[in-house]
Amino acid sequence: MPCSPILVDALSAFLAALGLLHLRRNSRRPIRYGKHEQEEEEEEREEEGKPKRRREGPASGQGAHLPARCAWFLQELPAFLVPSLLLASRASPRLAPLGCRMLLGMFCGHYFYRTFIYSFLTRGRPFPLKTLYFGILFCTYNGFLQGYYMIYCAEYPDDWCNSLRFTSGLLLFLSGIGINIHSDHILRQLRKPGELTYKIPQGGLFAYISGANFFGEILEWFGYAVATWSFPAFAFALFTLCCIGPRAYHHHRYYVRTFSSYPRSRKALIPFIF
Ligand SMILES: NC(=O)c1ccc[n+]([C@@H]2O[C@H](COP(=O)([O-])OP(=O)(O)OC[C@H]3O[C@@H](n4cnc5c(N)ncnc54)[C@H](OP(=O)(O)O)[C@@H]3O)[C@@H](O)[C@H]2O)c1
Repeated sequence: MPCSPILVDALSAFLAALGLLHLRRNSRRPIRYGKHEQEEEEEEREEEGKPKRRREGPASGQGAHLPARCAWFLQELPAFLVPSLLLASRASPRLAPLGCRMLLGMFCGHYFYRTFIYSFLTRGRPFPLKTLYFGILFCTYNGFLQGYYMIYCAEYPDDWCNSLRFTSGLLLFLSGIGINIHSDHILRQLRKPGELTYKIPQGGLFAYISGANFFGEILEWFGYAVATWSFPAFAFALFTLCCIGPRAYHHHRYYVRTFSSYPRSRKALIPFIF
């Protein structure tokens, strides 16, 4: 498959634009899954003058849901599968070997964890199908873009691994994935199996911010962007910031509203700042 720079630029620009659209939309209203799905439904009931109804399980009246484990597996799988298949079916090993190694080690490494480990450990509430369709589409699109670029287009000098961009990017990526995995672990430990209630997260970066898992993920993808120094990776990092940055903000507001004992010094996404 030849490299088409126009295709890469167009797909990357679209991804960045999609991120900015997301930011605009989700700054006002959070994406409806997890705690925000239930909360929004309660708000709608209140507006309609119906009594409050706190309940466990999926919010009612919002379409079909899938168990969280199944939904996360299906959603994240294409981001691992599509670049892996592209890599396996490439015609010649000459093509961007360092690009291939970065794609495998960093991008596919993250999605291997998300698909085959995170999915099976999650204790989340059932996931709305509507959100899942978008997630599957997004992971397929992004998996193709990052895979196609790294396998067929990326070219790096022989000493790229010694460059400041690669080493600082890799460091950011590893710190980010460490924070993300640790924070997701803390969230999981807040619940016993089968439980669906929300508690105040404690420990790790949660001591400073409500969206510690999101902070880690954003750091991770900016690290990947710096290490690969590519338009597709920067577009993905921007998309991630625009998608889960507002989610951290809405989580923070939810905690402050819900728990009177919520630590006042804790910020939403950036320690001591925001
Ligand atoms: N790259 C991207 O664009 C992108 C987009 C979305 C997500 N992600 C990543 O995917 C992972 C999951 O995302 P998410 O949006 O589901 O994160 P989340 O809203 O923080 O939830 C993560 C898990 O923890 C549970 N949880 C959250 N707060 C809790 C609390 N206070 N008490 C008890 N349990 C709690 C959730 O249960 P419930 O489901 O029941 O709320 C869910 O199972 C994160 O690591 C995130 O960075 C990445």
